[in-house]
Amino acid sequence: QSVAVLGAPFSKGQKRRGVEHGPKVIRDAGLIERLSNLDYSVHDFGDLNFHHLERDEPYMDVNFPRTVGAANKRLSGAVSSAVSAGHTLIMLGGDHSLAIGSVSGHAQQCPDLCLIWVDAHADINTPTTSPSGNLHGLPVAFMLKELQDKMPDIPGFSWTKPFLNSRDLVYIGLRDVDPGEYQILKSLGIQYFTMRDIDRLGIQRVMEVTLDHVLARKQRPIHLSFDIDAFDPSLAPATGTPVNGGLTYREGIYIAEEIHNTGLLSVMDLVEVNPVLGASPEAVEATASLAVDVIASSLGQTREGAHASMDEIP
Ligand code: ARG
Ligand code: MN
Ligand code: MN
Ligand code: MN
Repeated sequence: QSVAVLGAPFSKGQKRRGVEHGPKVIRDAGLIERLSNLDYSVHDFGDLNFHHLERDEPYMDVNFPRTVGAANKRLSGAVSSAVSAGHTLIMLGGDHSLAIGSVSGHAQQCPDLCLIWVDAHADINTPTTSPSGNLHGLPVAFMLKELQDKMPDIPGFSWTKPFLNSRDLVYIGLRDVDPGEYQILKSLGIQYFTMRDIDRLGIQRVMEVTLDHVLARKQRPIHLSFDIDAFDPSLAPATGTPVNGGLTYREGIYIAEEIHNTGLLSVMDLVEVNPVLGASPEAVEATASLAVDVIASSLGQTREGAHASMDEIP
């Protein structure tokens, strides 16, 4: 089993500086060593190099469209080749606009993938519904076939076409959904679990329904797109758009463990860790080491100890 790690130091999907340093702080928190301890052969592909265009005028109030489009095109190719080489891939962001490239590159190799989106936000705005003009609030809208008519031709994105059916997507952790996003979720009948749903049902039931929703018809590769702001800001303070009332540590780890237990995790994004926004070095380290814990659990670290096979037990 081999895991590849790819850094995507990119921040132009939103306006706050610092999220481009996410890959570095997550690595500094010990990611590679933790994965090696899980008995994977770990291939660190390093960080991608992104070019920032000199001139990149907004299009329909959407900021840096060509810069974000070019970065995602590049990421898409890198993800596609890592998956075709047989690696399970961990993509370290960077802001969440990077999911456009990550999921589309994954889909090139695995057209039947499903997408589990763990986030305080739905990131399904279109240029018309976006309150901010930030592309990290739009990535899912680029992917969904059902939203094709609602997405104009944004400069920088001619390389990608919608590839995902809305029934192959589940959200977990929502608590800050814009009015236009709510309409889209409802009109497409997308399966989602808000924090209130987690309060009512418990995380065990939420994961049962989530995995049943995407895997019942057939077993398929999972793309897990994990925005660190899904966690409560008390646990993950170093992020650009924190929202109170998020996942507990145990809920987040449980989500990751259940996804590992399917044996179907194929690509995971860990995005929106922004070290510049931590109030102290401790706040940054806490956020980064939480990111490492979620990644490790998604890849099989357990709370009951390592699962050695019986013949290894002395
Ligand atoms: N819904 C808001 C927007 O469209 C916030 C999005 C936050 N996204 C994120 N990936 N943190 O701007
Ligand atoms: Mn978010
Ligand atoms: Mn997000
Ligand atoms: Mn295992």
